[in-house]
Amino acid sequence: MQTMYNYAVLTMPAAGRLRGRNVLTMVDLSPDELASLLGTAHILKAAGREQQRFLQGKSLAMLFEKPSLRTRVSFEIGMTQLGGHAVIAHGQDFLLGKRETPEDVARVLSRYADAIVVRTHEHEPLQRFAAASTVPVINGLSAAAHPCQAIADMLTIKERFGTLSGLRLAYVGDGRNNMAYSLAEAAAMSGMSVTFASPITHRPPDAFLARVVELGKPFNVTARAFTSPLRAVRDVDVVYTDVWTSMGDEAYSERNSAALRPYQVNEELMAAAAPHALFMHCLPAHRGEEVTAGVIDGPHSVVFDQAENRMHAQKALLLALMTDLRGLGDQL
Ligand code: CP
Repeated sequence: MQTMYNYAVLTMPAAGRLRGRNVLTMVDLSPDELASLLGTAHILKAAGREQQRFLQGKSLAMLFEKPSLRTRVSFEIGMTQLGGHAVIAHGQDFLLGKRETPEDVARVLSRYADAIVVRTHEHEPLQRFAAASTVPVINGLSAAAHPCQAIADMLTIKERFGTLSGLRLAYVGDGRNNMAYSLAEAAAMSGMSVTFASPITHRPPDAFLARVVELGKPFNVTARAFTSPLRAVRDVDVVYTDVWTSMGDEAYSERNSAALRPYQVNEELMAAAAPHALFMHCLPAHRGEEVTAGVIDGPHSVVFDQAENRMHAQKALLLALMTDLRGLGDQL
């Protein structure tokens, strides 16, 4: 089912409130701000690749301390399509204070750019960086959160089902990683219930599950963790997984593989989900490890829609943080 949007979404009260803000985690957005972003992203996607001038003369600085394909390229091309441009600084440990403090890096980049994307290791230096920045800071992935991916994932699910509220999502694998956290928060804020399938060693903390329930309280959302993958995915609408070892945790690769091998998303596990269930993965993926080739390349998979939607969702985020969005509906 295709979701119907109209341009009125661009004038929702939530839209103008995002200007100048930082987005480091999902909870930096309210549920109505997230919904508004999804509406804007949908409209931008429908408008296609034609270049617009909404961000003409604006610059995005991107600081990457870790590898990236999707985040880097989608932000850069997204800025170009909006009439602005992006520059990238690659390097190790910008924010760890070895060369200069996170605050000094932020103060310098704020003098050049109108917004900043940062992909880094630990979350705390990113918070210090954002506090010192005078322009909006977007988390392009930290150890604690990956909000850009989670926003794009909500867009992908909404495109397929026409709604988010009332759906059920299962996250299979390491329930303590950045992707699991941001996804569960975004899902709950949108009215989706979440189950985790994780071994005890990788189970999300009870305090986090309670927070997810609290975020989804207006929708009576539930959040539960199971050790049985079959139990967790039973009849769900979305099955999501990620690599067994996150970037930067390579020292734990062997231990993670041993613990998470029974949590591979394969054809048998997908058969326990609802017949219409989507398979989702933020990519990059390791076929034969967390997912079989038959599933990721099969009919349930929407992984390349997710990758595409990174750009549409981030264009909406850039517009919301750098403009008041008003009047855009007339120009698209
Ligand atoms: N999913 C994601 O963030 O991809 P990259 O690491 O390639 O940016």
